[in-house]
Amino acid sequence: MIIQPRMRGFICLTAHPEGAEKNVKEQIEYVKSKGTVEGGPKKALIIGASTGFGLASRITAAYGSGASTIGVFFEKEPSEGKTASPGWYNSAAFEKFATADGLYAKSINGDAFSDEIKQQTIDLIKKDLGQVDVIIYSLASPVRTNPRTGVTHRSVLKPIGQTYTNKTVDFHTGNVSEVSIAPANEEDIANTIAVMGGEDWKWWIEDLKKAGVLADNVLTIAYSYIGPGLTEAVYRKGTIGRAKDDLEATAFQISDTLKDIGGKAYVSVNKALVTQASSAIPVIPLYISLLFKTMKDAGTHEGTIEQIDRLFRERLYTNGEVPTDEKGRIRIDDWEMDDKIQDKIEELWKSASTETLPELGDLKGYSHEFHKLFGFEMPGVNYDDDANEMVWVDSLK
Ligand code: NAD
Ligand code: NA
Repeated sequence: MIIQPRMRGFICLTAHPEGAEKNVKEQIEYVKSKGTVEGGPKKALIIGASTGFGLASRITAAYGSGASTIGVFFEKEPSEGKTASPGWYNSAAFEKFATADGLYAKSINGDAFSDEIKQQTIDLIKKDLGQVDVIIYSLASPVRTNPRTGVTHRSVLKPIGQTYTNKTVDFHTGNVSEVSIAPANEEDIANTIAVMGGEDWKWWIEDLKKAGVLADNVLTIAYSYIGPGLTEAVYRKGTIGRAKDDLEATAFQISDTLKDIGGKAYVSVNKALVTQASSAIPVIPLYISLLFKTMKDAGTHEGTIEQIDRLFRERLYTNGEVPTDEKGRIRIDDWEMDDKIQDKIEELWKSASTETLPELGDLKGYSHEFHKLFGFEMPGVNYDDDANEMVWVDSLK
């Protein structure tokens, strides 16, 4: 099958297996080039392991310190005439490489919010690994069915209190326009917290602990975002920000739960990056295009793998205290939040328009990163050729 990108709004309906494989390979090579993560994880569970920060976490655990990894994700298998979702190809590629390199890697494809998938994961850990020493929680989802109530919650990306108006960009066309987003109501806020807050993370850790599959001194990390004043109405002070407040508060509750086995829960605040989730938030793509340009000019730009590699080497596994901010959060958004970077973006923001953005911002870089998420625009892949559909690793069937 010849596979080309087919865009619909903020999503791409197709994904390329060989491009995905190249993308995974690039990330593996990056981690290998940095050498061993001394004292790094040996048995890792990654929830949300197939794309974005979760995939980078899986790769860093495996190739930084030789960790056995179990990855949980929710991805679409390929079917007649239809490609798989990108995370499916990424995971197939990861398993292929890891297994060839003598690293244990198995995956569970299903709804991580459900009790069934938690139980399957526990059974697999018991059977193959005994215990895990790190759990990365990296889910990004618009919807969650709470298994204890049966209620399906849908998250929204809205400001709170008043309508918010600012510039945004359609990164496919480069068109800069003004967008107005009506404020959320209380139900929207509660639903967004139910989907992206900390409850499911806590339930995972409670279930894993009850099952006896957590090693002494276990670590668990979930990912958060803060961002600048420019985006705070729609991000940190909006509905998603309330969910992140909840996630961050949950870290302390989980740490209490883990005290008796010496375990600890952290939230790591990461940099804004092009992922499927962040592309759907109005205003953010314009911010990201200015951020990328400014950070590339300053020589401090990072992608997901550079971020997570730095998280492991310079924050989590240093043989010393884990450095945190005054709210107990790990900060690897430090280079993004640097005053010089943010002052520059604020200045550029004022003059950003359809005409000026190609010059002021990194629209090309944004679009390229977006295509890369789906395995497109990867060097060395001929997209006019038939794509070799990868054979899905048996264990994933
Ligand atoms: P992503 O969309 O790339 O990855 C989401 C992962 O969750 C995928 O592996 C997907 O399969 C999995 N998933 C979604 N629903 C699932 C379900 N029901 N069951 C099992 N798996 C499911 O997202 P990302 O951007 O890497 O985000 C991961 C975390 O990082 C989120 O908490 C996000 O808020 C945070 N974060 C993102 C950014 C950013 O700019 N993208 C910045 C800072 C923090
Ligand atoms: Na992820």
